[in-house]
Amino acid sequence: MGALPQLFAVALLLIHSNLAQASSTPSDCGGSQVCRKTEPYKTASLTPAERANDLLKRLTWEEKIGQMGGIRAAFRSINGSVAFNRTSFEQIRSTQNGQIGYGQQANWAMDLLPRMNELRAEQINGSRLHIPYITVADSVNGLWFSGGTVFPGTISMASSWNLPLYEQVIAASRDENLAMGINWVLSPEVDIIHDPRNGRNGEMYGEDTYLVGEFGTRYIKTMQEKDDNGFVKVATTIKHFVFGSGSGGVNRASMFGGINHILNDLAPPYRKAIREGQPLSLMASYSSIDGVPASINKYLLQDVLRGILGFKGLIMSDANAIQYLLTESKVARTRSDAAVKSLQAGLEHELKPDGLGLFVELRSLHSNKEIASLVDEAVRAMLQIKFATGMFDQPLPTIENMAATLRNPRHLLLNRNITRESIVLLKNDDAFLPLTKGLLSGSGKVAVIGPYADLINAGNYAPVDPADPRYGNSFLRSFENALGKENVLYAQGTSTVLPNYDHDAQAKDQAAISFAVDKAKQAGLAVVVLGSGYGNFMPEFFNNERTDTEGYSHADLGFPGAQQQLLDAILNTGVPTILVMSAGQTFVINQSTSRCKAILHSWLAGEYSGDSLVEILLGQVNPSGKLTVSIPDHNGAFPVAYDYLPSDDVGGFSTYTKYDWHWPQLTRKPAMPFGYGLSYTNFTISEVSVSTSGTGSNRTIDVSAKVTNRGKMGGKEVVQVYFRPQYSIIERPVMKLIRFSKVSVAVGSMEIVEFDRIALTELGFYVNGEWTVEEGNYTFWVGSSSRSSDLTPVNVVI
Ligand SMILES: *[C@@H]1O[C@H](CO)[C@@H](O)[C@H](O)[C@H]1NC(C)=O
Ligand SMILES: *[C@@H]1O[C@H](CO)[C@@H](O)[C@H](O)[C@H]1NC(C)=O
Ligand SMILES: *[C@@H]1O[C@H](CO)[C@@H](O)[C@H](O)[C@H]1NC(C)=O
Ligand SMILES: *[C@@H]1O[C@H](CO)[C@@H](O)[C@H](O)[C@H]1NC(C)=O
Ligand SMILES: *[C@@H]1O[C@H](CO)[C@@H](O)[C@H](O)[C@H]1NC(C)=O
Ligand SMILES: *[C@@H]1O[C@H](CO)[C@@H](O)[C@H](O)[C@H]1NC(C)=O
Ligand SMILES: *[C@@H]1O[C@H](CO)[C@@H](O)[C@H](O)[C@H]1NC(C)=O
Ligand SMILES: *[C@@H]1O[C@H](CO)[C@@H](O)[C@H](O)[C@H]1NC(C)=O
Repeated sequence: MGALPQLFAVALLLIHSNLAQASSTPSDCGGSQVCRKTEPYKTASLTPAERANDLLKRLTWEEKIGQMGGIRAAFRSINGSVAFNRTSFEQIRSTQNGQIGYGQQANWAMDLLPRMNELRAEQINGSRLHIPYITVADSVNGLWFSGGTVFPGTISMASSWNLPLYEQVIAASRDENLAMGINWVLSPEVDIIHDPRNGRNGEMYGEDTYLVGEFGTRYIKTMQEKDDNGFVKVATTIKHFVFGSGSGGVNRASMFGGINHILNDLAPPYRKAIREGQPLSLMASYSSIDGVPASINKYLLQDVLRGILGFKGLIMSDANAIQYLLTESKVARTRSDAAVKSLQAGLEHELKPDGLGLFVELRSLHSNKEIASLVDEAVRAMLQIKFATGMFDQPLPTIENMAATLRNPRHLLLNRNITRESIVLLKNDDAFLPLTKGLLSGSGKVAVIGPYADLINAGNYAPVDPADPRYGNSFLRSFENALGKENVLYAQGTSTVLPNYDHDAQAKDQAAISFAVDKAKQAGLAVVVLGSGYGNFMPEFFNNERTDTEGYSHADLGFPGAQQQLLDAILNTGVPTILVMSAGQTFVINQSTSRCKAILHSWLAGEYSGDSLVEILLGQVNPSGKLTVSIPDHNGAFPVAYDYLPSDDVGGFSTYTKYDWHWPQLTRKPAMPFGYGLSYTNFTISEVSVSTSGTGSNRTIDVSAKVTNRGKMGGKEVVQVYFRPQYSIIERPVMKLIRFSKVSVAVGSMEIVEFDRIALTELGFYVNGEWTVEEGNYTFWVGSSSRSSDLTPVNVVI
């Protein structure tokens, strides 16, 4: 139902509009003549802006306000079934009807699509001007709800440093969204990881603005690719403007920093994405910046975002953010005041997970000219997105296409490929890995230990019940499949559930640790899987027991609960031990942890996390992931990011205070630096060359290097280029990434990597809002990580 009638209707309308253009103008429509003129907004050949302008004129005030909100959660999940509450749905729909969202993650795609199509058809038929909804969803690991391919989380995919592969994954994710009629996603999140305590770091790409900008822009371009009819497939929402360094690593906490900090340290991914990808929408952050919540921060949203950065799309609130102006920040006196202040600052659409939003208060302010004009702008922006994505022209999605698209075999293979490349090998003493038959000797058994060994830990935006095999294999299940169940001894060791850690729980953990130690002693090898996270937004599965992800900030960068005790107890047995970390965060790596023979970080990997780890342990896959975030060696030893300012590194007076940990780079280097990751083979990067060509402002920089595989296994290396001006008028980082490329090199072979025509302007930065490029002596570094011993410097005068 739905699809065909609508298609025919579109075809008829097009014929009518052609006739109308040939034979009549609006003024011909009087008298006895039958007017066949089709309204311009129904004419697919006009631009989204032209159609939106026409439709806007036809809307009543209430219809306009209706477009500024929506019904984010149409369906709930009750005991494994889709539940729909008609009463509450109608209550919201009467005043908020711009977009619609599917609701809870636990529901399955095949149960949802027919029901959603009914609601979509009802809205088209039932609304006065037949204005369709647009369906909005989060899309971090692929589909927001169950039944799609569960890709790894954002920090995992970024750890692949493989942009072409990432694009293919996002194309698969886009097609799965599209098959469910989701034409608008609430990604990418281009916030910069500035604080290791922030529970949302796993949703972000990394600590470097260039890397984040590259991934974020690819996400936008791929999602917003146009279909054969010229419609944008899936509109994107770049977010959260601006965020990353909330006080204490707390999700909605305040931020500080002047305009140079915002534009140079936080905004570069927006600048790139706006210029190259043109995201159709943007989400303002929860944070107050310099005391002004982003939702009412006119300076940031207008002067900086629209003015300096040139953003032209729709600006939406974060979920409930307008309400928080009233209930938390106390910068509004009433619901109406909150709505008006955020509208005046630049918000054009309200995201509200449930219930009535605050923009509905605008219904009573019709006579206010300023409000009326701002509402027109907001509705025009919304309608343009609907026209651009073909909401008025495309048929509803079909069950057949959904069945052919979701979990398509190609998507699953892409998922395996990116998961393999997302895992980072951090330590591998004496080539302990890959495991050989010899290492599995002794009892011939392997002990698999730890609370994260038997679950899938994909992050809170992934629809996964971590213990349910329908969502994929845990590491334990994958290892049992590979080695035979009889060869794997399993012990959970401690609980995953760690806050409210009472005496009884501790006693239970001590018993569980002893049990795990016994298992390790019976085996020749222990693989210990520790982490944080566990869970998503499905309360029925997790009872809010997450120890990472949104709404959680880490008071301690060690493993939560008794996990370090468990690891130490296993290491004390002397049984060779491999540590696998599973989380969206980094954990302190110190002498305790370094006693492991090998360490891997698997981040928030998706449904193939277990399989990929096993392939890497057994040498069927050569690891090629690299860190996109530096790892501290002590709980308080951060900021730790590689691109600190030169003055940051002097700390106190190092000659007087030799025990000072202070700034991490000079006196206490990070445990693991940005860009770092090991392989089973041995690459050398040589013949580094940096040269300039062209004249004046057209000058470009060419960089090249040779990568040779001198080891015994084919593999992939990430060649990284960093730079720094020797002089600048404001303080600039000691080094900044400017290019990277992942290359595959066969055994005994070599590849030349070339970065051609890097524009001079890319070396610039903002000074009080003005883009500035300086001439002078620049150092470029080329190598395999941000660590100086992995880099070759070359100076050029520009
Ligand atoms: C709209 O309503 C008509 C008449 O009730 C019905 O025949 C048609 O199928 C409906 N269209 C959609 C898309 O539901
Ligand atoms: C869900 O299932 C449980 C256990 O069978 C039952 O007690 C509960 O009433 C059910 N809830 C609903 C809303 O059906
Ligand atoms: C449905 O929504 C209405 C209005 O919000 C509420 O009063 C009612 O309890 C809901 N019904 C169920 C079964 O949840
Ligand atoms: C996955 O990677 C393998 C090895 O590089 C490649 O041969 C294969 O084509 C890739 N699969 C997909 C679907 O891209
Ligand atoms: C290593 O760090 C963890 C987490 O902070 C801590 O529990 C442990 O005591 C540390 N070990 C050493 C030797 O510093
Ligand atoms: C890589 O090559 C270097 C230099 O020849 C050597 O010292 C090192 O052991 C090699 N590493 C591996 C993993 O083969
Ligand atoms: C830069 O290149 C453009 C296009 O090739 C050319 O029109 C312009 O004159 C050049 N400017 C300078 C300063 O060389
Ligand atoms: C640029 O700086 C490097 C490193 O300090 C120095 O060796 C080189 O002589 C400088 N080049 C010029 C032209 O000043």
